[in-house]
Amino acid sequence: MTHTSVVDDVAVIAKRWNNTRGSLIMALHDLQSRHGYVPRESAMKLAKYMDVPLARIYEVLTFYNYFKLKPPGKHVVSVCMGTACYLKGAPGIYHDITKHLGIKSGETTPNGEFHLQIVRCIGCCGLAPVVTINEQLLAKMNPHDAVEHICQIKEGAEK
Ligand code: FES
Repeated sequence: MTHTSVVDDVAVIAKRWNNTRGSLIMALHDLQSRHGYVPRESAMKLAKYMDVPLARIYEVLTFYNYFKLKPPGKHVVSVCMGTACYLKGAPGIYHDITKHLGIKSGETTPNGEFHLQIVRCIGCCGLAPVVTINEQLLAKMNPHDAVEHICQIKEGAEK
């Protein structure tokens, strides 16, 4: 069975890194690795959860070239390859998505529609294997359903 839910991943990240040295940068790394960039709404939530001024977050984001403020593709597809997801079939999901989209992790389709990336554990191991598409978390995925979700997005774009 397929479960779809929207999780407040910023809260999970803030909890993971709060009170750690260099926590802001680590939390921003986490956000970027999950989304392929740092969405403004996520930066705003992080400011609230970590009690850091938003201006400070943007100081960090603009200081390091590494951080991206814009999405690398219209839809960012992330396949979790953390241990739990890996053991429950993430490599097969990743394989079928790469075949379907014709791109590998870190690449964007030529039309700019999809950006694919492998991410490490996103803190929802109980729902493994998980794939995220933009803000949407797809739980207990399998290769067929993951590709089906991507097809639905493509069809929606063609209508
Ligand atoms: S290993 Fe995928 S969510 Fe933890």
